[in-house]
Amino acid sequence: MSSRSIPIRIPFNRPPHFEGISSILTRAVEHGHTSSGGPFTKECEAFLGALLGVPTLLTTSCTHSLEMAALLLDTGPGDEIIVPSFTFVSTANAFALRGARIRFVDCDTFGNISLDHLEHVLGPATRAVIPVHYAGNSCDMDRLLTLCRGRGLRVVEDAAQTIGSKFRGRPLGTLGDLGCLSFHETKNISSGEGGALLVGNGDLLRRSLHLRDKGTNRQEFSLGMAEKYSWIDLGSSWALSDLNAAYLVSQLARMDTIMDRRKLLWLRYAEALQAPVTKIGGRILESPPHNTPNYHLFAVVWPSGAVRDRFIRHMAGRGILTPFHYVALHSSPYGSRFGSDPQEFPQTDRLSNGLVRLPLFFNLTLPDQDDVIDSVISFVKAP
Ligand SMILES: Cc1ncc(COP(=O)(O)O)c(C=O)c1O
Repeated sequence: MSSRSIPIRIPFNRPPHFEGISSILTRAVEHGHTSSGGPFTKECEAFLGALLGVPTLLTTSCTHSLEMAALLLDTGPGDEIIVPSFTFVSTANAFALRGARIRFVDCDTFGNISLDHLEHVLGPATRAVIPVHYAGNSCDMDRLLTLCRGRGLRVVEDAAQTIGSKFRGRPLGTLGDLGCLSFHETKNISSGEGGALLVGNGDLLRRSLHLRDKGTNRQEFSLGMAEKYSWIDLGSSWALSDLNAAYLVSQLARMDTIMDRRKLLWLRYAEALQAPVTKIGGRILESPPHNTPNYHLFAVVWPSGAVRDRFIRHMAGRGILTPFHYVALHSSPYGSRFGSDPQEFPQTDRLSNGLVRLPLFFNLTLPDQDDVIDSVISFVKAP
């Protein structure tokens, strides 16, 4: 029997499921304000604003938050935007959409932007740097901010994976000019599809509200702060529906429980797998000491693509999904238009070829996790 025909017993991810989620959705429908800006949106934005300490706008996705950021910075042709190659496509695409030239840089061993490479490539055309906080961890953000601020560069944090994690005690996503969170179903806290724009630079707040609301001053109008409601800027339909916000409330209300469970699962994996994985030349992706992690991913880095591919097949043969990512953007069909030197990305290549993620989600049961652990150990015995 080929592994392809084996049914999936343990998925890679499932969004958190609790009793009572459907009743909150019913309340959202019964309230009658199901579009953006309703009571659940206000509740989420107040909660996140207090948690993170910066104004927070719910959006339809992290991708759209990044697109808003590109517009807010007036990105255009001639601008060079620095993006790590080891990331999801949206990090680069949001700025490429505005005609910017993307300059890819390598990552460090944790999967975060390499500050040595960044320092080396900063130049006169550079407008902004987009650090990606991989697995909810970050580079040394103090060093990055010093490098950028000294040159007048903007910083947009791709904080898609960071809800609940910190750099030296400060929430990730709030340190640069703007931060972009994701509430996609694969994230620790989710709303199906969804995201947030964190506005660290107060000068950008008013315009952020306009852009999110199709380029209009609708919010000021509805608060009685503008006489007319009209088109005053570029923009799009980037505000989250209140139905999605209601679903988000159900999870934000249990954020500590979700985080505790993920931590327990992550630590169980690490304890059981550290020695066996190392035995065949692999490693567990840890957090740098400057981060308080949110246990977003449990990733193993195998020594080669061949070992990684055999591992994925071995796990699939037991009905366990263990996906890899990312296809390095500098060598992707569209990303290669920006003309990178392939020699500049040794660490990106290592992670892109060797990294794999184990199932980690709130409702993963301990027996299922033990099953995953046993399957990894059986692979190590005969890799
Ligand atoms: C690093 C990173 N950036 C951006 C995104 C896009 O997030 P969304 O699906 O909310 O648009 C993702 C999604 O997985 C991501 O991992």
